[in-house]
Amino acid sequence: VHFTPPSSSLAGKKIVITAGPTQETIDPIRFFTNRSSGKMGYALTKAARDFGGNVTLISGPTSLEKPDGVSVVNVKSAQDMYEAVLAEFSDADVVIKTAAVADYRPRVVHEQKVKKKDGDWVIELERTVDILKTLGEKKESQFLVGFAAESQEVETYAQKKLKEKNADMIVANNVTEEGAGFQTDTNRVTVYFKQGDVKPLPLMTKDEVAHRLIMMISEQLEKGRE
Ligand code: CTP
Ligand code: CA
Repeated sequence: VHFTPPSSSLAGKKIVITAGPTQETIDPIRFFTNRSSGKMGYALTKAARDFGGNVTLISGPTSLEKPDGVSVVNVKSAQDMYEAVLAEFSDADVVIKTAAVADYRPRVVHEQKVKKKDGDWVIELERTVDILKTLGEKKESQFLVGFAAESQEVETYAQKKLKEKNADMIVANNVTEEGAGFQTDTNRVTVYFKQGDVKPLPLMTKDEVAHRLIMMISEQLEKGRE
């Protein structure tokens, strides 16, 4: 369903959304990635568009169709995603960091295929830049939304991410829970707000979760204006 609520405070706002996994190259044949399908980020993209937002989707590699009516920037690595997000940041009103960004990448990227040999292959990994944390340090009036993918102690880690990344909202899920997290069509999330409110949502389709999250963001912008 496409509709724009008449009073949407997202109308005409620039909303930058990152989605999907990143790919970190080892050699021309191989890369490291993660289980993100991109579904949550694409659902948010459509919901934000339907609320009248001017949406830029920065997407890692996914098998999903490009949503209509939004700008799409395709990226592969965490570093590509960082550069693409920074280029859109200064005039953004809202940034939603749904992407499952690789935390580590191979220290050495081999130009040629690495041939197998007897014995083990040890790949040294180095940290990628934390995009959300960097945005949290640079932010002026942008409303920053992060996600937290956890397998235990969801509340503790979500609250920690909210503070450490200077986010306005963290959307947390337990990826080990049935029907939540990666590669499912449903999700059960809890939203942690900077002001201290905590809002658990029931298990819903990712489209429904996206709709609820976009409404919450819209309300927060509304409040910020009062
Ligand atoms: N994130 C990011 N850049 C990274 C890693 C994560 O912008 N290099 C963002 C994600 O897009 C997400 C939030 O930070 O919005 C939390 O990601 P998550 O992987 O849950 O947390 P991390 O801070 O990476 O910590 P850890 O993986 O150790 O739990
Ligand atoms: Ca991480």
